[in-house]
Amino acid sequence: MRKQIVAGNWKMNKTFQEADELINSILEYIKKDENTAEVVICPPSLYLELASDQANDTTLMIGAQNMSCNGFGAFTGEISAPMLASMGIDYCILGHSERRKYFNESHEMLAGKVEMALKHGIAPIFCCGEQLPERESGNHFNVVKEQIEKALFHLPESDFSKIVLAYEPVWAIGTGVTATSGQAQEMHLYIRNLIKDKYGDDVAQETSILYGGSCNAKNARELFSNPDVDGGLIGGASLKAEEFIKIVRAFD
Ligand code: 13P
Repeated sequence: MRKQIVAGNWKMNKTFQEADELINSILEYIKKDENTAEVVICPPSLYLELASDQANDTTLMIGAQNMSCNGFGAFTGEISAPMLASMGIDYCILGHSERRKYFNESHEMLAGKVEMALKHGIAPIFCCGEQLPERESGNHFNVVKEQIEKALFHLPESDFSKIVLAYEPVWAIGTGVTATSGQAQEMHLYIRNLIKDKYGDDVAQETSILYGGSCNAKNARELFSNPDVDGGLIGGASLKAEEFIKIVRAFD
């Protein structure tokens, strides 16, 4: 059975002290109960060591929000997959719409980042999703198809099967407007069928596809009840331990 995952993308939020507190609070909840879903937090890279140390010997998984497509070298300000791997980081979010928009990340660059992550044993949480005009013009399936095909479909099956996908419609990110349960399921099924056509049904059935975009403690249960929605990539609602844990519990 494919994994159910709830991942928190903290984006550029929290001071060091606040991050410390939030990680501790999340761990308090996680240690108390058995969780159905795997729980991942993706703090700013500056706090990865803190998170990784605190999560040691717990089931909490740690992810980065970005990494370079290069291994080492003269790339001021960047962090690389071998660095993340050397710190025991499990996941890295790649292809987030904010990185595509503000940092001009192209399909080609993302293909390189995905390969680099996989080469160093880091599982990409690969984001895809359309903007509002693209949905309004009925082009949303094509946009998502292109994002997935161009950055991922050159991979051999053994590599592709390590990837987690996240459908994040850009119009739902940070807006308070969530995709309806029907819209989410429709796109997730479409994505699963793309994978099936390329890699076969076994790989498609094993690939976790998360939903992201104004997912919160109130709407998570309904979104996650869809057969092809395997969890969430949570932004704003992952910044408060209690709210985030309610989303984790939406599976129970
Ligand atoms: P919000 O949950 O704040 O809408 O953000 C979603 C997101 O971008 C997660 O990567």
